Amino acid sequence: MKRILIFCSTPSRIFWFSLKNLSFLACLSCILFIATSADLSLKKKALIFGITGQDGSYLADFLLDKNYEVHGVERPLSIQRFNQFDQERKNLSSHVIMHFGNLLDALNVVDLIKKIQPDEIYNLAAQSHVQVSFECPEYTSNVDGLGPLRILEAIRLLGLEKKIKFYQASSSELFGKVQEVPQTENTPFYPRSPYAVAKLYAYWITKNYREAYGMFACNGILFNHESPMRGESFVTRKITLAACRYKLGLQKVLYLGNLDAKRDWGYAKDYVEAMWLMMQQPTSDDYVIATGKNHSVREFVELAFKELDVEIEWRGQNESECGMDRNSGQVIVAIDPKYYRPAEVDLLLGNAEKAQKILKWNSKTSFQDLLKIMVASDLQKVLKEKYSNLKLEDK
Ligand code: NAP
Ligand code: GDD
Repeated sequence: MKRILIFCSTPSRIFWFSLKNLSFLACLSCILFIATSADLSLKKKALIFGITGQDGSYLADFLLDKNYEVHGVERPLSIQRFNQFDQERKNLSSHVIMHFGNLLDALNVVDLIKKIQPDEIYNLAAQSHVQVSFECPEYTSNVDGLGPLRILEAIRLLGLEKKIKFYQASSSELFGKVQEVPQTENTPFYPRSPYAVAKLYAYWITKNYREAYGMFACNGILFNHESPMRGESFVTRKITLAACRYKLGLQKVLYLGNLDAKRDWGYAKDYVEAMWLMMQQPTSDDYVIATGKNHSVREFVELAFKELDVEIEWRGQNESECGMDRNSGQVIVAIDPKYYRPAEVDLLLGNAEKAQKILKWNSKTSFQDLLKIMVASDLQKVLKEKYSNLKLEDK
């Protein structure tokens, strides 16, 4: 029997065939076709709701590195932080397949999932500002509470509950008025804001779809995580930006609310890895993600300014308290009661032992390094601001 060795265009496609038995060739072609398609389908598809936010941008970056086909949903009028802020993430947006959408629009959610047929859905979309949720409680409940329900129900209605894995961005805000320290997956919840109450519904509906329909649906109970991509009205970013502006003479006073609140602050880049790890487990579950260390807002202020060689001395109490530049005697931090919350979360401290054990996840970036990263990035941003203002004045 004669045999011919055929080299195809790709090295993996080398095979023999028998001249006597052409069906053998057909058979092999078939196997080859299946193997090639399997190779293509190895590229997993992820769909990210909330891709224009802090976590969405880092997660997209992370998944692209893992060779995912990444789809993202942006609201038609999104503030495009995703496209604007791009030193670290050069051209990321050009590698992601973007779709218009809104979690308030159930038909749109169904249509997106039907069209994209992702393997994994990450729901990071939310009205994520706790203080804003007191001003817009119904809107916040709709997006943050019913939004995840719309995704889960779309998956179920499309009959994709065995194909699609679902991640819900749950929050340490669920612990609110904490019932124990530190907080674990078993700590009872006590939400303290419309935001947290909406997230509580989202947490339970995710768990409910897991139990009722056997879906792979998990809750990442993430403690505060920050980065240069953090929204500018969250306290850490507000402080690092103000410290840099003060240093460069662009801002005199930083107005804050409760200086004594304590948070367990980690680095967003470390935390998106935990989201992905949860989705790679054989079964879905809920995990606390935290550093296990906390600091007060006051400490964050002191260290951020110190990073720029400005020492703060505190004077006064409560609403009259202020922080002075030890060198110049100038008031640089003052209290504005409008930043106090109707109900405050005084202290958060997470215990991420379960994630360490099962996901082999650890928070890599220290609080001090996180501060340095944020201050260095904002210094560059503020320098540009100053430079462009100077250029405008020159004209
Ligand atoms: P973020 O920066 O505020 O991003 C929120 C994202 O949700 C943005 O992309 C926003 O789009 C999108 N969004 C808002 N309303 C939407 C709607 N109706 N339909 C579709 N998209 C909508 O928040 P983050 O810090 O990245 O946090 C990501 C998720 O984790 C949020 O669910 C947050 O509640 C939760 N979480 C955050 C932390 C934290 O410390 N960062 C901790 C625990 C849990 P636009 O750009 O158009 O506004
Ligand atoms: N935003 C803000 N602005 N907070 C201030 C200010 C201020 O001027 N002054 C003091 N704070 C205090 C708040 O009262 C709160 O106790 C703390 O700083 C942190 O506030 P934020 O940075 O707004 O974050 P958060 O802890 O309320 O919520 C963030 O973390 C949650 C996870 O625990 C958000 O990202 C939520 O979406 C997330 O779920």
